Amino acid sequence: MSDILRVENITKTYKTIDSTIYALRDISFEIEEGEILAIMGSSGSGKSTLLHILGAIDKPDSGKIYINHCYEKNYCTEPKATEIRSEYIGFIYQNFNLLKDFSVEENIALPLILDGVKEADIGKRVQKMVDLVGLSGRENHRPGELSGGQQQRVAIARALVKSPKILLADEPTGNLDYKTSIEIMDFLAKANKDTGKTMVIVTHDPKIAAYADRVLFFKDGEIKGEYSLGEIEDKLDFIVDKWRNSAI
Ligand SMILES: Nc1ncnc2c1ncn2[C@@H]1O[C@H](COP(=O)(O)OP(=O)(O)O)[C@@H](O)[C@H]1O
Ligand SMILES: [Mg+2]
Repeated sequence: MSDILRVENITKTYKTIDSTIYALRDISFEIEEGEILAIMGSSGSGKSTLLHILGAIDKPDSGKIYINHCYEKNYCTEPKATEIRSEYIGFIYQNFNLLKDFSVEENIALPLILDGVKEADIGKRVQKMVDLVGLSGRENHRPGELSGGQQQRVAIARALVKSPKILLADEPTGNLDYKTSIEIMDFLAKANKDTGKTMVIVTHDPKIAAYADRVLFFKDGEIKGEYSLGEIEDKLDFIVDKWRNSAI
């Protein structure tokens, strides 16, 4: 395997009137092409900040980001940031972030419309995604008419419609019940297997992290543990054990 993303010595602070919050402290790690990487850590440990930086939405104070082995100086600076997002990144969130007045197919079509794709092509590509996420017949429904799991499937279809190489997921099952969480993760694991898509999944939940090839534990903006899960038989048990003993 070879790394698709690598960050070196990333630091990110937020300054308030009377203090400086270190959201990320000198973080370095790599993400292998085709792997599922889980990032775990308690609230406020810097997970979302990291995902925003990897997704070229936010800018670190210092540090380097490499994509496809090349140092990209302007990774988080426009117009390069938009180019990186458009070419490489799909994002899904805990709250789905769908446009509530848009239908299922309009939500999925949005990245293509913004990209100026021809209307005839948009229809075909959107239908393919609708079928893939199992929402045929729901094309004209609005998000408010769908269950949480169905809304997340729309969000996944929107994130994947341009076939990005990397999917970044910030607590994608945080608002879903147990059974629906498993359905969503089974779907993502299949997409990873079928298309080799790289996935970075932030989660509090060991059973979600157990889908990953590798897990990073974050605390106070630092990486406190890194474990490969490839050879581990009972991944859930392993993660719970490490988690319990890590004092995170
Ligand atoms: N826009 C912001 N302004 C000030 N502080 C922030 C901002 N975003 C995040 N933080 C702080 O940075 C730290 C890391 O936050 P975050 O990355 O959201 O953590 P997590 O996703 O692990 O819960 C927290 O202490 C949080 O309060
Ligand atoms: Mg967060």
